Amino acid sequence: MDLPDQITIKEVGPRDGLQNEKKEISTEDKIEWINQLSESGLSYIEITSFVHPKWIPQLKDAVEVAKSINRKEGVTYAALVPNMKGLERALEADVDEVSIFMSASETHNKKNINKSIEETYPVLKEVVTGAKEAKKTVRGYVSTVFGCPYEGPVDENQVVDVCERLFDMGIDELSLGDTIGVANPRQVHEFLCKMEHVLLKDQIALHFHDTRGMALANTATALQLGYHTFDGSLGGLGGCPYAKGATGNLATDDLVHMIHEMGIDTGIDLDRLTEAGFFIQDKIGKPLPSKQMQVRAKE
Ligand code: HMG
Ligand code: MG
Repeated sequence: MDLPDQITIKEVGPRDGLQNEKKEISTEDKIEWINQLSESGLSYIEITSFVHPKWIPQLKDAVEVAKSINRKEGVTYAALVPNMKGLERALEADVDEVSIFMSASETHNKKNINKSIEETYPVLKEVVTGAKEAKKTVRGYVSTVFGCPYEGPVDENQVVDVCERLFDMGIDELSLGDTIGVANPRQVHEFLCKMEHVLLKDQIALHFHDTRGMALANTATALQLGYHTFDGSLGGLGGCPYAKGATGNLATDDLVHMIHEMGIDTGIDLDRLTEAGFFIQDKIGKPLPSKQMQVRAKE
């Protein structure tokens, strides 16, 4: 197999995970959890989001969390930003990277950020420009790349169009979201091969949700095609509140385990990562879905 020696894993649990948990996690516990994640060898943590607190009350303490965590050298601390109001708050909190987001399908975009796709571009363009002026790097997310909970299959040309529009704004990296975990390895293979001329491998991350247990298989498919940046959420925490049926992301700990077993480096200490998983599981108060945590709980 033609595989890379090293890959990058981006932890999105404090944002994508917690945004969908009904149990309220205290600001103090979020800070402690993120500090533990920083000590596990992760180089990138999406710590929160500066969206409207009425839409996502779970992350209403975004500024406080971002200001209170220990910033470990070499770790990028990122957060979601939907508009200029969000950017204002993100800059006040001094995150390292700003993540803009939108969907490839109209209905999900509307339900998630209350705008049509066309209305979204100028809003995001302003955010990218403002973030760049503030010397921040910018990540873009495109949701519903492999399927939409409201519209079903999404036209690949529409996906590419959205991706290109975000790159034209000057984003540094784009994360392709399988928001509701419907992608299968064949679809991922065909999509990535078809899009190779448009989407530069070094600028693409894959963001798989594990709703139907296909996230690791999809990851292995992308890995074999030379993609080397993957998002995960520790323990498999998470979902999308505006995508019915979306459960957690691919579990970071399961991903790290598979990658290490394949002889590929991540820089992550799986023992420390799993300890951080047990910390947040205890706060959430129910078993998290990752296989790693289930195996280790029995040891
Ligand atoms: P809106 O109601 O259309 O906002 O919401 P608006 O621009 O009309 O403003 C209304 C009021 O909200 C104003 O206050 C604004 O100041 C305030 P007023 O003048 O009435 O007093 N406001 C804000 N306050 C704080 N922070 C802000 C903010 N923006 C406006 N940022 C909005 C539009 C985008 C804000 C809303 O729809 C929203 O917050 N949506 C976020 C939904 C969300 O977080 N979804 C989950 C994340 S995406 C995801 O999970 C997918 C991903 O993981 C990839 C994948 O899996 O596919 C990334
Ligand atoms: Mg997601």
